[in-house]
Amino acid sequence: MTDGRCDRDLRRRTGVDPRRVEQLRRREDERFRELHPRCAALSGAAERSMPRGVPMSWMTDSFDHPPVWVESGHGAHFTCADGVRFLDTNIGDKSTFCGLDPEPVVRAVQRRLADGWQFMQPLEDAIPVAEELARRWRRPFWQFTLSATQANVEAVRLARLATGRDKVLLFFGNYAGHADELLVSYSGGELRPHTLGLASRAFGAAGIVPFNDLDALTGALATGEYACVVTEPALTNVGVVLPEPGFHDDLRRQTREAGTLLVLDETHTLICGPAGLVGRWGLEPDIVTMGKAIGGGVPLGAYGMTEEVAEVHLRERGPDGSPGELATGGTLFANGLSMAAARAALTEVLTEEAYGRTAGLGARLADGLESLFGDAGLDWPVHRLYARSGWSLGGRLPRNAAEADHDAWPELSALQHTYLADRGVWEAISSAGPAVSVAASAADVDDYLAVVGDLVAELTA
Ligand SMILES: Cc1ncc(COP(=O)(O)O)c(C=O)c1O
Repeated sequence: MTDGRCDRDLRRRTGVDPRRVEQLRRREDERFRELHPRCAALSGAAERSMPRGVPMSWMTDSFDHPPVWVESGHGAHFTCADGVRFLDTNIGDKSTFCGLDPEPVVRAVQRRLADGWQFMQPLEDAIPVAEELARRWRRPFWQFTLSATQANVEAVRLARLATGRDKVLLFFGNYAGHADELLVSYSGGELRPHTLGLASRAFGAAGIVPFNDLDALTGALATGEYACVVTEPALTNVGVVLPEPGFHDDLRRQTREAGTLLVLDETHTLICGPAGLVGRWGLEPDIVTMGKAIGGGVPLGAYGMTEEVAEVHLRERGPDGSPGELATGGTLFANGLSMAAARAALTEVLTEEAYGRTAGLGARLADGLESLFGDAGLDWPVHRLYARSGWSLGGRLPRNAAEADHDAWPELSALQHTYLADRGVWEAISSAGPAVSVAASAADVDDYLAVVGDLVAELTA
C-alpha cells in the first residue's frame, strides 16, 4: 500500500497514517530479532530437517514475525527458548482454552499413562465423555476422531450417505479444516482451490455463498444437490462475523425444506459456553462437530448427531443399494490419553463457572478496547463473543467475509502482532484476535489492554 491515494484512503478509513505503521514496523521487527536470537538459531537448525524450518510449513505464513520456539507453558503464559515470557491471548487458536497445563487434565493423562493408552479397543472413559457431550449439545450420539478437520470430514461423509447427495455448501470465510472439499474459494466466477496441492475435482463437490445472505442460500439449496451445509455458528476465522437476527432460524428452516443436513462446527465457538453457541443460541444442527479444546489441548475431535442421523451409521448399504460401510476411522482415534483428557476437561475444567468467568473477562476486554479507541478518537468498532473480543478497522462490524477482507489492513495487523510480541503478549494469528482462557485473570486482561493502549498512543501520536 504505497501510492498516495491508497495511503489517504487508509488514513481516512482507519485514522492511522500508513507511514507511521511502516516506521513502527521496522523498529518492532528489529526489536523482535534482538529479543529472539536462540529462536532464530533453532529455526536455522530446523531448516536442515524440515521444509521452511518448522514442523508444519504454514507456521511461516500464519505468523507476522518469525516463529518462536516454546520451552514451557503454565496457566495463561508460556516461555520461549530465549526466556521471553508471553501472555497467551491467541490461546493456541482456541485449542488451549482450558489453559496451558490444566491440572485435572495433567492428572488424568498421568494416570492413563501409567496403565497404557493405545489399544485400538474402547476404554471406559469414552462413555462419560459421550454422555456429557450428549447432555450439553442435546445430540444423543457421538463419534470421535483426533482433530476437528477429521470430525468435519466424517460429518460430511455421514451427510452424503444420509442424503444420497455429494455436495457440501460452505460460506465464504468459513474454515472447517484442511480437507480438500472444505478448502474452497471463489474468484473470477469460478470455484477454486483455496490453497495449493488440492485435488481439482474436489471443487465440483462444493458450493460457496456469502454468510448472512439468505437469498444466495435459497438459490444454492434450490439445486437439490447439497448433502449438507457446513458452517460455524458465527464466523471466527476472518476476525468475527456475527449472524444477523433471524439468520440461524432461516438457515435451519431452509436446510430442512431442502433435505440438506446442517452441520454446525463448534471447534472455536466452544469457548463461548458449556454447549458453545448451539447452547447459547438454542440452535438445532443435525450434526455438531468440534476439536481443539475439547481434550484440554490433547488431540481429540468429536461429532454428535441426532438419533435419525445416527441410524445412518447402522446402514450397510449405499444410496444405490451397494453393500459397504461408512468411511470412518483412524488407528489412534479415541485413544486412552485423548479420552481421559476429555473426561477431565469436560467435568473439571470446562464448567459453568469457568464459562461465566471467561465471558466476564471477555466483556472486560471488550469494554477496555472500546474505551481505549473512544479516547483515541478511533472509529474501531469492537465485537463481543463471550471469551473473545477484537475490533474492526472499517468503522463497521463486517456482515460477511468480503467486508471483513475489505476492512482488514494486513500491515497494521503485522505491526500489532509484532508490537505485542515485543512486549510479552502473544496474539500472532491475524484472523484470531484476543481471547481469554480458563487460566486467565483480570490482571492478564488489563496487561493486554495496557500494551494495546501503548500501541494506539504511538499510532496516533
Ligand atoms: C472452525 C474450525 N473448524 C475446524 C478447524 C480444524 O481444526 P484442526 O486443525 O484442529 O483439525 C479449525 C481450525 O482452525 C477451525 O477454526
